[in-house]
Amino acid sequence: MKTAPSVPLRDRVRDLMPRIRADLETLVRIPSISHPGHEPSQLRRSAEATAKILSDAGAEVRLLEIEGAPPAVLGRVTAPAGRPTVLLYAHHDVQPTGARELWHSEPFEPIEKKGRLFGRGSSDDKCGVVMHAGALRAFDGKTPIGVTVFVEGEEEWGSPNLAKFLERYGDELRADAVILADSGNWRTGQPGLTMSLRGIVACDIEVRTLDHAVHSGEFGGPVPDALTVLAKTLATLHDDKGNVAVAGLAHGKADPLDLTEEELRKQVGMRPGTRLIGEGGITDRMWMKPAISVLGIDAPKITESTNQLVPSARARVSMRIPPGQDADAAMKALIDHLRKNVPWGADVSISPRGHGKPYQLSGEGKTYAAMRRAMTEAFGREPVAMGAGGTIPFVADFARMLPNATLLLTGASDPFSNAHSEDESVDLADIERSTLAEALFFEYLARS
Ligand code: BES
Ligand code: MN
Repeated sequence: MKTAPSVPLRDRVRDLMPRIRADLETLVRIPSISHPGHEPSQLRRSAEATAKILSDAGAEVRLLEIEGAPPAVLGRVTAPAGRPTVLLYAHHDVQPTGARELWHSEPFEPIEKKGRLFGRGSSDDKCGVVMHAGALRAFDGKTPIGVTVFVEGEEEWGSPNLAKFLERYGDELRADAVILADSGNWRTGQPGLTMSLRGIVACDIEVRTLDHAVHSGEFGGPVPDALTVLAKTLATLHDDKGNVAVAGLAHGKADPLDLTEEELRKQVGMRPGTRLIGEGGITDRMWMKPAISVLGIDAPKITESTNQLVPSARARVSMRIPPGQDADAAMKALIDHLRKNVPWGADVSISPRGHGKPYQLSGEGKTYAAMRRAMTEAFGREPVAMGAGGTIPFVADFARMLPNATLLLTGASDPFSNAHSEDESVDLADIERSTLAEALFFEYLARS
């Protein structure tokens, strides 16, 4: 294996780290939350900041607009004659922060602790944006291959306008290979190449037992409250061992890799007495089997509750689905299961929410060989072929549009990044290594 070009690139990326970190801090300071009810102007600000970063990195940049959608950012470095073009994907929107008290620092004020940068979006997915920009910077914008950067602003809300973006701008996104920097590494300092993504379907269920609330002592006994009905319904979604009980869904097998229960428990901060649920390998359960969770319930707060029978209650139910599972069929199976399991004849209405499709990547060919070599060089160890339990709605639709492009799923985050939760963070040394890997990949692909 020839390593000659990596020496200058390695130095270059090391010298660029203050710049890359400043880019990340700029982005983290913008509360670009794509969930409804948050200030949409912040998504325009983060799109503009992303555009500025990419243009400083040497790309020709513009905002892509779809009526009613947050702007996406397109950056381009034209391919030298005869060289391939790579599309680099990331998203500039973030999840809401949840309760401020749960954070140990301000969510939108980046702060470093023990080599990690904390703040909402630091890992999911603003580090993806700055690592793409960093890879361009490593070549002063004169990359040895063509580069198109596409940074969307609504991934965390399920990319509802994705089809419209692809219809209007798809031609400009054509590429031979795609790096989606929205997954992560296997461990801090140990690279990963993600080979599969789960999809997601979700619905809201409302049950009603009464036209209005009544005295719980006067009528409790024969008359059911809606919250108990809802609890019994939700309890049927798993069997006693914790396996998903919805029938007819695809299940697959995953490489167990070297993940022990003990390590997983540390990663998620699991309480000592709480047991893992479901059967099969841990990685099967995280990547290749369905998973159901109840995300929220609308019911009286305890402090506002009184001695009444609650007349109606609602829950939001989310189901992850493995590659090979059709999303529409999964949605139907979930809704049918819920409807069938509402006890005592209570009224039920269920509204489906959007879905994201699962996706299986290939791992074959010279593009993968180039990335494996680049990651091995940058991290000093080989990338782990891992799966992911999360969803990136962009991937399946994009892959259908570009059937001949090789898709690679990377990212600088790690299992301690706390994506979507409080105290989100990213390891700064891993940003450096991931950026170097991407830059080396450009070199190796150009010469392959
Ligand atoms: N980066 C995640 C997806 C992800 C998570 C990939 C874990 C690999 C490992 C992405 O930003 C995300 O959170 N997507 C949403 C999609 C949803 C809103 C349709 C998700 O999975 O909840
Ligand atoms: Mn996310």
